[in-house]
Amino acid sequence: MKKAFFSLFAVLPFLGACDDAKAPAGNPEVVAEAQKVWDTKCSTCHGKDGKGDGEAGKVLQPPPRNFQNSSWQADDARIRKVIVEGGAAVGLSANMAPNPELKDKPEVVEELLKKVKSFKP
Ligand code: HEC
Repeated sequence: MKKAFFSLFAVLPFLGACDDAKAPAGNPEVVAEAQKVWDTKCSTCHGKDGKGDGEAGKVLQPPPRNFQNSSWQADDARIRKVIVEGGAAVGLSANMAPNPELKDKPEVVEELLKKVKSFKP
C-alpha cells in the first residue's frame, strides 16, 4: 500500500510535465483552436474580417474595435490582456468580454494576437 502511494507521487510530476509540453503557437492544432475561438466568439462582435461589424457587435456602444482601421494601435501586451481579462481590465468597454479559459492557453492567445494584427492594412 505504502509503495503504491509513493509511486503515485513519483509519476505525478511527469504527468504534469506532459501537460506543460503543450503544442506551441504556430502548431496547426493551436492555429485551428484559435481560429475556432475567433469564428465562434470574437467574430460575432468584431466581424469575420475584423472590421467591427459582427451581428452581435452592431448594437454595442462603443462599437467593437475595427482592426482594419489603420489608426488603431495597441501594443501586444495590451491586446493579450484585453483578450484574457476583457476590455474593463484596460479601461475599455466591459462589452469586450474576458476569456478566462484562455488564461492557461498562452499559445492560443498568441495566435489570436496574430489574427487581430493580421487585419491591419
Ligand atoms: C460581445 C462582443 C465582443 C466579443 C465577443 C469580443 N469583443 Fe473584442 N471588443 C468588443 C468591444 C465593444 C471593444 C471595444 C471596447 C472599447 O472601445 O471600449 C473590443 C475591443 C477589442 C480589442 C481592442 C483593444 C484595444 O486596445 O483597442 C481587442 C484586441 C479585442 N477586442 C479582441 C477580441 C478577441 C480576440 C475576441 C475573441 C476572443 C473578442 N475581442 C471578442 C466587443 C467584443
